[in-house]
Amino acid sequence: MGRRRTAVLISGRGSNLQALLDATRAPDHPAEIVRVISNRAGAFGLERAAQAGVATSVVAHRDYPDRPSFERALQERLLADGVELVCLAGFMRVLTPYFVDAWRDRLINIHPSLLPAFPGLDTHARALAAGVRFTGCTVHFVRTEVDLGPIIVQAAVPVLEGDDPERLAARVLEAEHRCYPIGLRLVAGGQARIEGERVVIAGGAHPPGITIHPDL
Ligand code: GAR
Repeated sequence: MGRRRTAVLISGRGSNLQALLDATRAPDHPAEIVRVISNRAGAFGLERAAQAGVATSVVAHRDYPDRPSFERALQERLLADGVELVCLAGFMRVLTPYFVDAWRDRLINIHPSLLPAFPGLDTHARALAAGVRFTGCTVHFVRTEVDLGPIIVQAAVPVLEGDDPERLAARVLEAEHRCYPIGLRLVAGGQARIEGERVVIAGGAHPPGITIHPDL
């Protein structure tokens, strides 16, 4: 099987995109990133993609009258590139069923919490307010409900005394950079199979869970 043609959708900084670009540089990685699309023209992730020699596009939601027409434009770009898998990496637009269903089981996302806890925005502030001792990140298949869907990889990250949302976010982000390449490898390599709404990893192995220690 050739490498799966993969697009990454971003809105900003693109540090998770960078982790995916770095991981897929290995010729034996089952995914190849063929396109990075941002809905914001100034997104730093576009520079990261260009640096890595990957084609970029801006599909700015503001240029379209509504979500369906914006998503049709995204879809046209992806189909023109022969894309087989789509990764959302800090892509901050809610996608409608039109797009999500078109990419069912071929669309993955990373979220900075241990889903199903703390979906949505302000994740770290809400985790701190709830007093949880661990938070983390989740790579999951996308369904129409925001930040929900079959879980592929998770990492648990401790909440430490004196954390504020920024400190906690930075610790979780390190875990994200480890988890997303693993998740993409499992999906692109055909090892992550969905049974019911749970992901089963080929070979009977447990789905990957990673614990990140404070001194990481
Ligand atoms: C990451 O922390 C990602 O998990 C989060 O946005 C950040 C993007 O950072 N995504 C969400 O909150 C999605 N609900 P990055 O641009 O440096 O990868």
